[in-house]
Amino acid sequence: SGGRINVAIDGPAGAGKSTVARRVAEQLGYIYIDTGAMYRAVALAANRAGISPGDADRLAELVKTIDIALEPGADGQTVWLGGENVTAAIRTREVTLKVSEIASHEAVRMRLVEMQRKLAASKGVVMDGRDIGTHVLPDAEVKVFLVASVKVRALRRYQELSESELVPIEQLEQEIAERDRSDESRDISPLIRAKDAEVLDSTDLTIDQVVEHILDVCRTKTAEAK
Ligand code: CDP
Ligand code: CDP
Repeated sequence: SGGRINVAIDGPAGAGKSTVARRVAEQLGYIYIDTGAMYRAVALAANRAGISPGDADRLAELVKTIDIALEPGADGQTVWLGGENVTAAIRTREVTLKVSEIASHEAVRMRLVEMQRKLAASKGVVMDGRDIGTHVLPDAEVKVFLVASVKVRALRRYQELSESELVPIEQLEQEIAERDRSDESRDISPLIRAKDAEVLDSTDLTIDQVVEHILDVCRTKTAEAK
């Protein structure tokens, strides 16, 4: 693998995982994989097919044939669902409100985890999600558990909203807290820090500070891996 490593970044919504993971990958010349986007694509497909988030049987059927592709690009990752560009469609509020329940089903997780492991098989991957360090890539050389206060995470999301999407920040805070609870309490691969993951609290850190810290850790590990 030529000294290449895998980097796992887990944590709750709005902690900064995707922003930071994308930059770390860019700096290292690695591939960035946003596993949350894959769960969102399943949620979008389910929504369109009229499958309710609690319908385990129909979701199991759906993921058997689902065609999701991630394409790394200069300004982020393009997400394809059956040949359609769904990069924007998977970020709607409707998808956000349903994705956590969709992601709690065993059949859904098994299918996506299989895809994720394949993508990381030749190393040189920065992957973000909820269960990367604990379950998807337990052997990842670098594991970060990125956290931040609920208030700051809600504020970050609020600042990303367009005018047509505006909702009160208190509501965002509630929805984020609810998704945290759901992700942390599910039976299969809940959101939890891997024992060997470093906890990094980004509440009072800039993006650059978080990126630099992770890059330092990666450079040390890459030197060891040579
Ligand atoms: O970007 P944001 O933090 O809002 O969430 P995301 O990373 O896009 O993930 C959306 C949802 O997918 C999460 O709330 C989890 O329910 C689920 N997910 C998961 O279960 N496992 C992963 N590895 C990644 C996401
Ligand atoms: O992927 P995740 O849901 O963990 O977070 P994100 O989608 O990367 O969103 C984090 C938001 O907070 C982005 O708008 C970042 O610009 C901002 N931010 C950050 O990521 N890290 C900081 N230390 C400060 C702000």
